[in-house]
Amino acid sequence: MTEQPGLRIRLADPDRDATPVAAIYRPAVESSIVSFEEVAPAPDEMAARIRATLARTPWLVAEEANEVVGYAYAGQHRERAGYRWSVDVSAYVHPDRHRRGIGRQLYGVLVPTLRRQGFVNAYAGIALPNPASVALHTSIGMRRIGIYQRVGYKFGAWHDVAWFGMRLSHPAEPPAEPIPLPALGA
Ligand SMILES: CC(C)(COP(=O)(O)OP(=O)(O)OC[C@H]1O[C@@H](n2cnc3c(N)ncnc32)[C@H](O)[C@@H]1OP(=O)(O)O)[C@@H](O)C(=O)NCCC(=O)NCCS
Repeated sequence: MTEQPGLRIRLADPDRDATPVAAIYRPAVESSIVSFEEVAPAPDEMAARIRATLARTPWLVAEEANEVVGYAYAGQHRERAGYRWSVDVSAYVHPDRHRRGIGRQLYGVLVPTLRRQGFVNAYAGIALPNPASVALHTSIGMRRIGIYQRVGYKFGAWHDVAWFGMRLSHPAEPPAEPIPLPALGA
């Protein structure tokens, strides 16, 4: 795989990046079962999602010649307090830029940042079939945990979701609180 020499990975800016991020996400909602959402979020909704995510966890964009070509983010795995060391991660790359290492490079920044924050587990739920996503998450060291069978209904059919996961760190007991992203030093 060729790395993208001109690729820059940086934190998302909700105001500046919401429009291209919403455009990259739109086909996943409108013409695939990758996302179980049914209405693609408009840029202002996407800006709100990016802003809310950045209060705690990273939302990264990949930029090439000043154009956003992909993004990846992490969010809390589940809401209840005991889950706060566990995150879900997800990545989307512009369809014209697939298989150039952009997803892997996004996770190459996301995963170490999550480790520095003190998160312990990262998970990804992948609606099947999605060989590209399975390959990406396997390539960063995730292993398949199991399958939620027929858990989502979209476009007139039931779909399975495979859950993948990896241990990010081996914390002391009790574990230190995760560091919110804005409090993480450079
Ligand atoms: C999944 C996705 C983010 C992967 O991004 P990408 O930039 O194309 O992936 P990369 O080029 O970094 O490839 C990562 C690994 O997956 C492999 N891979 C990527 N696409 C693949 C495909 N279609 N089939 C098989 N393997 C594939 C690559 O060979 C690479 O493996 P390696 O690290 O062992 O060399 C991209 O396909 C995408 O945006 N898909 C639509 C949205 C989506 O499904 N997101 C995931 C939601 S769970």
